[in-house]
Amino acid sequence: MNDRDKELLLQIYGEEYGPDAGPWNTSVKSKYLEYRITAFFEENFSVNPADKICNIGIGAGIWDRYLSYRLKNGTLTSIDIDSECCKLFELKLENENNPNIIKVINSDVLLLNDFDNSFDIVTMVGSTRLESGLFERIIIKAIKLVKPGGSIYYQTLDKDEEKDFFGEICKNNSCRIKKYELDTKYGLKAQYFKAVKEIDDIIIS
Ligand SMILES: C[S@@+](CC[C@H](N)C(=O)[O-])C[C@H]1O[C@@H](n2cnc3c(N)ncnc32)[C@H](O)[C@@H]1O
Repeated sequence: MNDRDKELLLQIYGEEYGPDAGPWNTSVKSKYLEYRITAFFEENFSVNPADKICNIGIGAGIWDRYLSYRLKNGTLTSIDIDSECCKLFELKLENENNPNIIKVINSDVLLLNDFDNSFDIVTMVGSTRLESGLFERIIIKAIKLVKPGGSIYYQTLDKDEEKDFFGEICKNNSCRIKKYELDTKYGLKAQYFKAVKEIDDIIIS
């Protein structure tokens, strides 16, 4: 890592607790959300040896970092359309000497056709779907990325999103919802889903 990268990292770590992002990052609402996202995963998903996990939407990289430490000799593929998010996440991993196998891909997830039916678990949490502006297309892509028999963790903070939105997409794409939770604490509308892709369906893209 060169001096410029080190300076960039220092600046980013500072900004995370500066006057713009600091009030949210230190709030109980943000901490609760992080806890709930993690707890739903812990309570409903199992990570097996050599499992391949994929996350769509890195953002600040907090969720991806958590996933990296849940691997059991498997791999994490982290995807984001924003090159800055990807670079910063890679620098953070390097700076922290993260020993896990993490592949960071800077791309619109919709364009990644080589990875369909590749992952044991695909996750997409927070406001990624909303931010992407891709409506159901990004969810269909998440389902395509999962191996038959694999699972999808979808969490959404969109106040206008109904439970059936994800339910219908699952139904039309050979997926079954196994677990659903709605949590409105702290004025949020957080919905948590675990879905499993049917084993006998291999989607050809
Ligand atoms: C709100 S952040 C999610 C952060 C993280 N998942 C979390 O909850 O802490 C959403 C991320 O999704 C990325 N994103 C939006 N559209 C995308 C697309 N089509 N393909 C890949 N990443 C996308 C954005 O660049 C942004 O970094």
